[in-house]
Amino acid sequence: MEKSSVLGVRLSLKQRYLLLLGFAAAVIIASQLTRSHPPRAKMKRVEGLRANSSQFTLEKNPFRILGGSIHYFRVPRAYWEDRLLKMKACGINTLTTYVPWNLHEPERGVFDFEDELDLEAYIRLAGSLGLWVILRPGPYICAEWDLGGLPSWLLRDPNIKLRTTYAGFTEAVNSFFDKVIKKVTPYQYSQGGPIIAVQVENEYGSYAKDEKYMPFIQEALLSRGITELLLTSDNKDGLKLGGVKGALETINFQKLDINEIKYLDEIQPHKPKMVMEYWSGWFDLWGGLHHVFPAEDMTAVVTEILKLDMSINLYMFHGGTNFGFMSGAFAVGIPAPKPMVTSYDYDAPLSEAGDYTTKYHLLRNLFSSYHNEPLPKPPSSQQRRAYQFAVVQQHLSLWDSLHSTEKPFRSQRPVNMENLPVNNNNGQSYGYTLYETAIASGGTLNSKNNIRDRALVFVDKHLVGVLDYKVQELVLPDGKGSRTLSLLVENCGRVNYGTTLDEQRKGLVGDVELNSHILRDFVIHSLDMKAGFVNRLQGSSQWVSMQKQPSFPAFFRAKLYVNSSPKDTFIKLPGWTKGVVFVNGRNLGRYWSIGPQQTLYVPGPWLHRGDNQVTVFEEQEADGKLYFSSNPDYGMAVDVE
Ligand code: GLA
Repeated sequence: MEKSSVLGVRLSLKQRYLLLLGFAAAVIIASQLTRSHPPRAKMKRVEGLRANSSQFTLEKNPFRILGGSIHYFRVPRAYWEDRLLKMKACGINTLTTYVPWNLHEPERGVFDFEDELDLEAYIRLAGSLGLWVILRPGPYICAEWDLGGLPSWLLRDPNIKLRTTYAGFTEAVNSFFDKVIKKVTPYQYSQGGPIIAVQVENEYGSYAKDEKYMPFIQEALLSRGITELLLTSDNKDGLKLGGVKGALETINFQKLDINEIKYLDEIQPHKPKMVMEYWSGWFDLWGGLHHVFPAEDMTAVVTEILKLDMSINLYMFHGGTNFGFMSGAFAVGIPAPKPMVTSYDYDAPLSEAGDYTTKYHLLRNLFSSYHNEPLPKPPSSQQRRAYQFAVVQQHLSLWDSLHSTEKPFRSQRPVNMENLPVNNNNGQSYGYTLYETAIASGGTLNSKNNIRDRALVFVDKHLVGVLDYKVQELVLPDGKGSRTLSLLVENCGRVNYGTTLDEQRKGLVGDVELNSHILRDFVIHSLDMKAGFVNRLQGSSQWVSMQKQPSFPAFFRAKLYVNSSPKDTFIKLPGWTKGVVFVNGRNLGRYWSIGPQQTLYVPGPWLHRGDNQVTVFEEQEADGKLYFSSNPDYGMAVDVE
């Protein structure tokens, strides 16, 4: 029998084989031990994340959280892995994510955890890539997200008190948590999963309307089997009231003020200090400028935070996009809420389309010194394409699209969006609502400030003007006989932060008057523009060739031809005014010529080879073409202040 020697010992083939097997097993075990990420197998675990002294411990060893936020609901599912690998390669060890209740429970009792909303798959993926997870399940998440992530159907109750122990709210939270918390408990550290901590609500200290509320949310988590470390997260002013006994308080900020850290230390001595939201950039509002936070300023603060021995979470590490009608509105200190733009680029280390930025490279450099091993190589960048412009072929007027909506509703008085008898009696959540009534004269139309948020006003389908928070009166032209007054009211996004959450009903929220007479007898069409509607629209026989002048508002359709494997692109609409873009039935979000944002992100995975259907809903003015660019244009930039 052939023999060979190892360290001078002569071995048979079988012996060599066994030795090789043993060696392979040893390599696997060693790699499991040195990995900073959760092994997938249910390895015995002793102790998860703890906050018993001034430093976190994990498995009783000192541990520093180098976190980053990426929201699965803001990133196409096909890109989750790419973004998380980039995160890992930057030296981040912990992924943090919110959970958007409004998307997961679009109608009361109807849940959606599929496709882009597959939270479990997202957590599993993070774990498999070696990232720990801090889950922030709300139920309120703020996040520049419509109503801070609360479902709009909660507003059907005229007495609702959101984020309090009001029974109508707690019952709804309980029913959502029954679903969502049950899904995530198996992914906790103690059960072999990557979740090392869970956040209780979000910045409740800045709301603080009910002192029983935080204990309620905490108990709602505990009673459903959450066993990992609980945290709360607040800005400095919120710290006083935002905490709850048994949960670690963390702080949120952008510029470092050492007094804020001292304050955190004072109210919570001998505990690990963590910046749960270190704002890497900022969000933008329609009509404003694009916020940037210089990379060097950001890295300087991150360096300081790390020197102070603190843990950190970059909010956002990668912002992504507020697809659909999901962006919220800003309302603090201004008379009327200002809606947020579609992009959530946030000037974060990874751009909206997942590109590396200067921030990424600086952070990677910094974080690499906090790891014993070299960081993984960053994945290669994705390609993008500036596709040939697409020529608009047909249009369909708003009035002709009404056949594709749910049956109109007749009502003496105006009914707000959320209380309309649509969507299985959950009301309308997002989009536009058309209110029509007959008028017998012209004169002064007064909105009594009951329009939420913006209405195009028509008489017999001719545009007469726009009403909003600022403009509350319009003169309607005189005319003969009975004419139709139409108000196309847009919900521009519900406020996501501040004390006015309970007042975020949309559409017409009260009476409107013509010459001081209250208008009555409305026909109300709900135009929530969900995928079903957009698909039904394609089958309409009312599409008209562009050779015939369109009237506005209208839907326009064009084909984007893709001749090779689809790549990301940005759609540009110069010469168009305001509306929404759908690609193959998916809502890419709103555009508005007032900017700052001038392009909408079109993810490659949502395109296919051949003809892609692009449908644009435009309120006022259209160009015959749609342009594509390989780079975004977020508008004129201004430093964050
Ligand atoms: C707060 C909230 C976040 C987000 C940021 C601003 O800290 O907790 O959800 O709204 O502000 O981006």
